[in-house]
Amino acid sequence: MTGLAAELSALAKAAFAAEGLPEALGQVQASDRPDLAQFQCNGALPAAKLAKTNPRVLAERIAARLKAQAIFARVEIAGPGFINLDVTDGALAERVGRAPETGAPGTAKTLVIDFGGPNIAKPMHVGHLRSAIIGDCLQRLFRANGWQVTSDVHLGDWGLQMGQLISEIEHRGTAPVYFDAAFKGPYPEQSPVTMEDLEDLYPAASAACKADPARLEEARRATAELQAGRPGYRALWRHFFAVSERGLVREYGSLGVTFDLWKGEASVDPLIPPLIHDLTARGLAVESDGALIVAVAEPGDKKEVPPLILVKSDGAVNYATTDLATIVDRVAEQDPDLILYIVDQRQHLHFEQVFRAARKAGINGKAVLEHDGFGTMNGTDGKPFKTREGGVMKLYDLIAMATAEADKRLAEQGLANEYPPEERADIARKVGIAALKFADLSNYRLTDYVFDLERFTRFEGKTGPYLQYAAVRIQSILRKAREEGYMAAAPVVRSAAERALVLQLLALPEAMDAAEDKRAPNVLCEYVFELAQKFSRFYAEHHILSKSDAELRAARIGLCGITLATLTRVLGLLGIEIPARM
Ligand code: ARG
Repeated sequence: MTGLAAELSALAKAAFAAEGLPEALGQVQASDRPDLAQFQCNGALPAAKLAKTNPRVLAERIAARLKAQAIFARVEIAGPGFINLDVTDGALAERVGRAPETGAPGTAKTLVIDFGGPNIAKPMHVGHLRSAIIGDCLQRLFRANGWQVTSDVHLGDWGLQMGQLISEIEHRGTAPVYFDAAFKGPYPEQSPVTMEDLEDLYPAASAACKADPARLEEARRATAELQAGRPGYRALWRHFFAVSERGLVREYGSLGVTFDLWKGEASVDPLIPPLIHDLTARGLAVESDGALIVAVAEPGDKKEVPPLILVKSDGAVNYATTDLATIVDRVAEQDPDLILYIVDQRQHLHFEQVFRAARKAGINGKAVLEHDGFGTMNGTDGKPFKTREGGVMKLYDLIAMATAEADKRLAEQGLANEYPPEERADIARKVGIAALKFADLSNYRLTDYVFDLERFTRFEGKTGPYLQYAAVRIQSILRKAREEGYMAAAPVVRSAAERALVLQLLALPEAMDAAEDKRAPNVLCEYVFELAQKFSRFYAEHHILSKSDAELRAARIGLCGITLATLTRVLGLLGIEIPARM
C-alpha cells in the first residue's frame, strides 16, 4: 500500500539519485517533532559520509530539487542536515478526498495463520483467548494488506486428554458399544456425550489419572490405541470432535472470531507414518532410548536446543510430530509464503525445534515459519487470569462479565439508557467485547498485562469504549447533517486542527504496513487512538454544522465522513464493532 510518506519518499529518492547518491537514503517519514515539521528525511547525513562532503551542503542540494516539487509548502534544513518537509494544504486535502486504495489482487502472497488452538475437552485458558484476539486481528490486517489468508484453529485433539476421556467413559460404563471389540458397527450417529458432559468428564479423568498411576497407564494405552486406529475409539473421538467443534464455533463466534479451517492435530494423522518413514530413510530421524528423535541443535546456539521427539518410546506421537505433519499438510494444500503461529511465548522452544526440523528436512516448501508469541493476561494476584475459582474459562462467562461491566458504565455515563432493552443489551455486549479486545491488543503482544475490567470499560483514555464512542459521535453528526439536508463535499485544510487530522488520516497505510511488519496490533491501536484524539480537537475547535457558510460546512462534513470511514476500518481490523448509536 502506498501512503503520503511513500509518495514523498519517491520524490526524495529521485532527488538523491539525481545527485548520484543511493536512492534508499531518500526515505521520508513522519516527523519526530510534529511541532516543527510534518515530515523529515534524514538521508543527507549518511549520504555526506559516503560522498565525503559536508552534510548541510548536500542537504541544500537535495532541498533545492525538492523545492521544485509543487507538493511541498516548505523544505528546510535543520540541525546538521535533516530535511524538514511540509506539504501544501491543497495537496493534503486532495489526497484525503481520494477513495482509499485496496490491496492489489494478483500479486497477493499467501499466508496460513495458526491461532486459537484450544484443546478438545481441556479447559480453555487465557492463552487461548489472547491467541484468538491477536490472531483474528492479524488475519484481518493481512487480508486488508492484500494477502491471501487461510486461518486454521488447529485444535488440540490428538493428545493424552483424548485417551483420558475414553478411559473415563469406559469406567463409567455409559457407552459400552465403543469398547466392545466384537462390535462390527456402525456406531451410533448420536454422540454419547454433550459439551457439558465433556466439561465434566475431563476434570474427573484428569484427577483420576493424577491419583492413580494405573488409570494414567490406561489413558496412555487408550491414546495409543486411538492413534493406532481402534474403530470404537475413533468413533468416540469423532463424537468428541463434532461436539467440541460446534461449541467452539459458537464461543469464538460470540467474540466475532472466525476461522477458515477447523483442522487439528488429528487431521494430519495419515501424514505421520510417511513423514516418519521419510525422515528415518534420510537419516534425519534416529533411534534414541527407544524413541525416535531429530537432532536440531545448531553450532551457534547460546542455550541448549534439545532434540525433537518424533515418536515416544511407547509408540505415541508428540505435539511436535503433529506440528511437523501439519506443515507438510499446509505446504500441500496452500503452499504458503508464510506460516504464522500465534501461540503463547512459553512455547517458543517447541516452535524453534519444529521449525529447525522442518527446514532441515526441507518440508516447509517456500514457507517462512514464524512463531509470534505473546505474554499472559494476569489476574490482580499476578497469576494467569481465571474466571472461576481454578476452573474452566468459558468465553461466554468472560463476555458476560465484560458486558455487565459495560452495562454499568453506560448507565453511569447516561448513555443508551432510554433505548429499547434489546438494543441496549446489544450495545453493552459490543462495548464489553471492545473493552476486552482493545485492552489486549493495545499492549505490545509480548508484554503481560493485568485483567482489569473497571479500567478496560472506561469511556475515557485508551480504551475500546472511548473509540467506539468517538465513532458513534461522528455517526450522529452525520445523521444530523442528513436530517438537515446538508451535503458533504471534498475536505479543505485551513486550520492546524484540520491539518493534523488529515495528516493522521493519510498516515493509515504506513500504520498498516508497520503493524504487519512487526505483527503488532498495538500499532493499529496507537494509530486509531491518535486519530480519535485529532478528531476530538477538530470537533472542539470548529463548528461543523454551522449555518452560515455552506461550502465550509460541506467540506467539514466531508472530513467527518472520511474520519468515520477510517475509524470504522481500523476498529474493524481490531475486530471491534461500532454500535449504530449510544
Ligand atoms: N493446543 C495448543 C495449546 O493449547 C496450541 C496449539 C498451537 N498451534 C500449533 N500449531 N501448535 O497449547
